[in-house]
Amino acid sequence: MDLAATLGPVTLRSPIVAASGTVGSVVDFAGAGDFSVYGAAVAKSVSTDPWPGRDMPRLSSSGEGMLNAIGIQNPGIEEWAQRIGPRIGDVPVPVWGSTVGHDAEGFAEVAAGLEGAGVAAIEVNLSCPNLDGGHLFALDPDASAEVVSAVRSVTSLPIGAKLSPNAVDIVEIAASVKEAGADWVVLTNTVWGAGFDVQTRRPKLRSVVGGYSGAPMKAIAMRCVWETAQALPEFPILGCGGVRTGDDVVEYLLAGASAVAIGTAHFAEPRIGGRIIKQLERYMARNGISRVEELVGAAEPW
Ligand SMILES: Cc1cc2nc3c(=O)[nH]c(=O)nc-3n(C[C@H](O)[C@H](O)[C@H](O)COP(=O)(O)O)c2cc1C
Repeated sequence: MDLAATLGPVTLRSPIVAASGTVGSVVDFAGAGDFSVYGAAVAKSVSTDPWPGRDMPRLSSSGEGMLNAIGIQNPGIEEWAQRIGPRIGDVPVPVWGSTVGHDAEGFAEVAAGLEGAGVAAIEVNLSCPNLDGGHLFALDPDASAEVVSAVRSVTSLPIGAKLSPNAVDIVEIAASVKEAGADWVVLTNTVWGAGFDVQTRRPKLRSVVGGYSGAPMKAIAMRCVWETAQALPEFPILGCGGVRTGDDVVEYLLAGASAVAIGTAHFAEPRIGGRIIKQLERYMARNGISRVEELVGAAEPW
């Protein structure tokens, strides 16, 4: 059975990727997870300077999903490169970095630092829902393109642009980051959400509004994948949102994703990757599919 997946210039040994922010720096999660079955694992986003993150509470459940307002707590690229860089080669999976910032120059500076630290590819996090002022690059095609162009100009590594399901027109944003030099698009980051504790009557998050992720997000991100795949069939997609089973992975592939990232599910089940790959292999065996790539965009019309 051939599990290999292709994302533009990158060949992955399996179609599952560990999503940014849910496996630490990858390096420090390696003892808890089972990275040998992943095609890649994405480290938590990093900025130029250290960011302290948002005030607590910044994590909460809501229905079957999770609200978070971590605020990209990170040590800044210099410390990250010193501490994590030398250990990247020890983990049994290609490690991708993730850059975040307040402006295009900041994103580019971090991208250069990530490349210097030895990552295999770079995600451009245009869609963090927890930046002060609620600013999301990924709502604006020009701002998104400016950031991707700046990153493209400082690195020859493959670039994935991570977008937001809150964009009014996801295809417009995807087309603009493609034009600016992204090799694939990550669909999607968390969706804006909020919740309240009925006993204390306080917001579940100190910031009130944060990112909602987990199972209920699957249909939301899937719509973004489908519309983008229909409009831009040559632009590779890494699907992301609410994946918990092998069937979830298959669903994203059918919608048009070339590979699929797993996020929130790692908190409940750090070794979920192994189970998902077994379920995927069982699906393929039962349905006479020998190559994962046969499933990409293979949804049947009514
Ligand atoms: C606690 C937490 C922290 C996250 N941090 C980041 C981050 O630093 N950078 C990023 O691009 N995405 C981040 N994400 C978003 C995830 O990578 C993923 O896009 C999103 O959670 C949807 O997938 P899921 O439903 O499988 O979790 C974070 C998600 C959670 C739940």
